Parts: sequence; C-alpha cells; structure tokens
Amino acid sequence: MRKPFIAGNWKMNKSVTEAKELVSSLQKKVKDVENVEIGVCPTALALSEVKNLLADTNIKVGAQNIYWEDSGAFTGEISAEMLADINIDYIIIGHSERRQYFNESDQDVNRKVKSALAHQIKPIICVGETLTERKSQETENKVRFQVKADLAGLTADEVKKVVIAYEPIWAIGTGESATAEEANRVIGIIRDVVRDEYPQVADKVRIQYGGSVKPHNCIEIMKQPEIDGALVGGASLDAASFAEIVLKTTELY
Ligand code: 13P
Repeated sequence: MRKPFIAGNWKMNKSVTEAKELVSSLQKKVKDVENVEIGVCPTALALSEVKNLLADTNIKVGAQNIYWEDSGAFTGEISAEMLADINIDYIIIGHSERRQYFNESDQDVNRKVKSALAHQIKPIICVGETLTERKSQETENKVRFQVKADLAGLTADEVKKVVIAYEPIWAIGTGESATAEEANRVIGIIRDVVRDEYPQVADKVRIQYGGSVKPHNCIEIMKQPEIDGALVGGASLDAASFAEIVLKTTELY
C-alpha cells in the first residue's frame, strides 16, 4: 500500500521567526503520527532553520523550487546540491504559480526533476489544468502532456521516488475544490499515463491532490482510492488546521 503524504506548501508566507513558531506548534500536535507522511515546504530562507528544528522528527522538509544547475553564475537561484547539503527531503517542482508567473516550461520542470533526483531529493511535480482548459474538455490532454514531458528520460527506479500533485489551477486559493470523485478520476488518468511508460512502478508512485484542501473536506478527498495525500496551501499556514488534516487522514489508514 502507498503511504499517504500530506505536505504543506507555504508559498511566499512566514518569516523565519514565524516559520519556527509554526513548526514547533505543529510538531507537538502530530508527533505520534506514523501511518501518514508529513511535510512542510517553507520559503528558501527558512529551510535551514526549519530542518534543524525538525531533525529526528516525523516531519519532512521540502523546498518550493530550485534551479537545475549545481552552481554558477545564476543570480538569485539555489540548487538541489545546496539543498542536499542541509538534508532537505523534497522539492516542489513546476507549481502552477511558477509556471504562470515565472514562465516555467515542462522542459524546465524536467531538468529540475532530474537535478533533484541526482541529489537524492524527491520531487513533488505539480500538474493541472486551467478553468478554460477544463471547460473545453482539455483536462485529460493537459495532464497527460505534462506528466509525459515532466518525467521524460527518467528511469523506472527514479519514477518510483517521484510524487505527483494534481492541482487543478482553478481550485488553488479559491476555496473551490474539485469534487473528490473528479479529483480521483483525473488522478487515475495520471496513474495510467505513468503506467504506459513505467508499468512496473506506476502503482508505487504517490499522487496527491491539491487545491483548497481544508479540514472540512479532507476526509472526502482522502477516502478516494487513487488519492495518496494532499498538497495543502492556505490551510497549512495554521498549525491547528494543518494538524487537523493530518490527524483526520490517519484515521482512514
Ligand atoms: P490552497 O490549498 O491554498 O488552494 O493551495 C493549493 C496549492 O497550491 C498547494 O500547492
């Protein structure tokens, strides 16, 4: 069985001081959880301190982005190699906000995924359709294309380590989530795409849902057979609500 993974994407929120307070409070609330993997993804600035605080706990730490080169003249960027040095566990790659505001292409995403894996950091690859694409029945084609392009050239062994997050763009930060059944359907399609290329590992890849996951709707979402966790935005900024999502999920497994 796939171990569910609930991760918080803090986006550009929380100072280092606030980040430390948040994880200290969260850690107390979820310290006994074993059957659900938990992760937090603070800003790059807070990664080092948060990782230190969470060393030897059941909470993993992820970054929100990297550049694909290890080092060099790339002002403002950080690399997977640097994140590996401070034992970062995950990197969110290709979030729709990065694709939309920073023009990240699937080719960029693919390069970043390869760089993360080369440094033994697990990528959380985000895919999903816009509202216009959904309305014109393009959801399937869009996620199919993204998954293929983002995983291009990986070995089956590498794909096994990847987490995919299905995040319909119209459901992010809007309070409007996909119905649990619909999220389950699209995630099933994503798994089929993985299966086409990597039949031997497709059932091992964890696929999360992301988009307005809250304490009030997480059970419905997490009950779905294809959904292996959640990438939580807004609700992860509050220790009590993020812990509630984690704790409710533990009861389902
Ligand atoms: P919200 O949970 O705020 O909708 O954000 C989802 C998201 O983008 C997680 O990566």
